[in-house]
Order: sequence, then C-alpha cells, then structure tokens
Amino acid sequence: MKVLFLNGPNLNLLGTREPEVYGRTTLADIEAKVRERAAQLKVAVDFRQSNQEGELVNWIQEAKGKFEVIVINAAAYTHTSVALRDAISAVGVPAIEIHLSNIHAREEFRHKSLIAAVCKGQISGFGEKSYILALEASVNVNDSNI
Ligand code: DQA
Repeated sequence: MKVLFLNGPNLNLLGTREPEVYGRTTLADIEAKVRERAAQLKVAVDFRQSNQEGELVNWIQEAKGKFEVIVINAAAYTHTSVALRDAISAVGVPAIEIHLSNIHAREEFRHKSLIAAVCKGQISGFGEKSYILALEASVNVNDSNI
C-alpha cells in the first residue's frame, strides 16, 4: 500500500513557526516518525510539502493510480481552496484531512474546511500525532465499517 502525505503552505516552517500553537517539532522530524510507523505497518510513504496551491493540485491529480490514500494537511488552503477540493473530488483517491491544531477551537475563519466534505474524515488537534493517526486510518480506509 502507498500513502501520499501532502503538506501545504508554511508547514516548512514548523519548529520555529508559532511554537505555542504548532509545537517545536520540524516537518522533517514528523516525516521521520511517519516513516518509522509506516515501516511497522508495511506501508510505503511519499512525503511532500509545497507553498504553491497549483503544485498541490498537480500532486493530487498525479496520485490517481499510484497511491491508495492521500493524507493532506492543506494548512491555510484548507479554508480557501476550491481548487484543492475539486482536485480531491475529481481523482477519487480516498483522502484524509489532518491538522496539527484543533481548527474548530481556533479563530472562526479556521472552522470552515472547504476540503472536509470530499475527504473520508478529518483528524485535527493531536499535534504531530495527527500524522500517525492518519497513517493508521489509511490502512483501514476502505474498510466498510468506517
Ligand atoms: C493547520 C491549521 C490551519 O488553519 C493553518 O492555516 C495551518 C496549519 C494545522 O495543521 O493546524 O497552516 O493546518
């Protein structure tokens, strides 16, 4: 099984970016932890970050036929991007939305996710563990019980 992790804008700054909200773990640290858990689960992982909306759209489109699941932290684009929503809907690859922080406990503009309705589900508020929980959910994503 192959899982594509996509990370949106400013997540390259994790570690130094608003540590009181996002913690001090870097994206490279998170990737290492994801890879460690993926090895245990025998899942192949591709882990990418972009500050460009169009690049994320391209990666979602290219995932069709190559990945069984997309795990996406769309960051600020979560709240603004019809293009990401349409790409996820168009390719039909099951997607899991994740966030480090609990977007529903923050500013009102973060409460709305434009991608939530086209994702299998959302994991929000568990810090770097959101990534591990999403990986574990990926393994069962086509299970009819969930
Ligand atoms: C985030 C939450 C978003 O609202 C924010 O724009 C981010 C990070 C999170 O992981 O908590 O950049 O997606």
